[in-house]
Amino acid sequence: MLNFKKILVTGGAGFIGSHVVRRFVLNYKQYHIYNLDTLTYAGNLENLKDVEKCSNYTFVKGDINDIEFVNELFMKFNFDGVIHLAAESHVDRSIANPLTFVKTNVIGTMNLLNAANDLWKKDYTNKRFYHISTDEVYGSLGEKGLFTELSPFAPNSPYSASKASSNHFVRAYGETYGLPYVITNCSNNYGPNHFPEKLIPLFINNIMNNKSLPVYGDGNYTRDWLYVEDHAKAIDLVFHKGKNHETYNVGGFNEWRNIELVKVLCKLMDKKLKRPSGSSEALITFVKDRPGHDLRYAIDATKINEELGWKPEVTFEEGLEKTVNWYLENQEWLNNVVCGDYLNYYKKQYQ
Ligand code: NAD
Ligand code: TYD
Repeated sequence: MLNFKKILVTGGAGFIGSHVVRRFVLNYKQYHIYNLDTLTYAGNLENLKDVEKCSNYTFVKGDINDIEFVNELFMKFNFDGVIHLAAESHVDRSIANPLTFVKTNVIGTMNLLNAANDLWKKDYTNKRFYHISTDEVYGSLGEKGLFTELSPFAPNSPYSASKASSNHFVRAYGETYGLPYVITNCSNNYGPNHFPEKLIPLFINNIMNNKSLPVYGDGNYTRDWLYVEDHAKAIDLVFHKGKNHETYNVGGFNEWRNIELVKVLCKLMDKKLKRPSGSSEALITFVKDRPGHDLRYAIDATKINEELGWKPEVTFEEGLEKTVNWYLENQEWLNNVVCGDYLNYYKKQYQ
């Protein structure tokens, strides 16, 4: 198992990043965790309120696209590990504004790679650059089959193309300069602190507000869902025990067609909100499909299971209930993010 002193987590104020930061700050008192985040619409320091005063945690506000700032940060703090989650992460926004995705996901990643490589190139021992990526780099599956680490890249959206590109650069820095890296490609996450532009939190928020539930196309698209804390556990394991220059796929063994998932969520919301059965389902509206919509994602997570012993621990039933409970108990968090820019985004995207 590798050991670290100063770990840079990028994008730690976002959905997955905040779960990763919390896990590392609480479980590894011997490390100092630096959370670098520029706080885009998706970054929210409220996500980390409970750990912000911990002595082994520092928040740094800054942009990974700013080369000078990134270089100075690496020189100043002398990180020995990087867990890179900062990204533009929403497919629909990438369709509307692809260049932002190239800037942050590709150029921003390059800036981190260069800074890490410059700092570490004299001695790569006990150093690690961990790039967090997505199963979407593999494109779309048909009705059958699973993505393995050997599946060819075939990204279909500007988001997935930018993530595929950054994966290639990380690998190239390993091959060309010897940079010690690991990559994981994970399936769709869900859980607390998820920004309400993605399917599950968007629909929870809409049901709470009696707004329509915009299902794209016929709703027969399939995703493999993983509870966010199971992903954070996988990240912890791969960071400490994964083999250098290896990629691991992470997934939930939990495939759902969107429409079926939405119906399960509707039933749960009716129960929690004590509304008559069927009230949430009545909000379902089939809307114009997403262009380039990938039919199906599903992960074969055998490698991480066999090599590192990881498997998801939270069932979908438990995870969905925990998620719904969190949103019902944290309406202030939700109200603070569904205002201003969010309303403009919503209008443009759905009307
Ligand atoms: P998110 O959008 O919730 O959070 C992204 C974070 O990055 C935000 O806090 C944002 O402020 C920050 N950020 C964005 N641009 C930045 C910049 N230029 N400089 C510094 N910080 C910046 O995303 P998420 O869902 O938590 O995803 C995190 C990572 O995991 C991403 O790399 C994403 O591609 C990957 N991933 C996500 C999923 C998923 O289902 N959400 C699945 C697999 C992989
Ligand atoms: P999303 O949460 O955006 O994640 P991704 O595109 O990365 O898989 O979408 C999950 C699925 O839900 C995807 O098939 C698109 C669909 N979807 C809708 O039907 N309606 C919506 O309003 C959103 C945001 C997504």
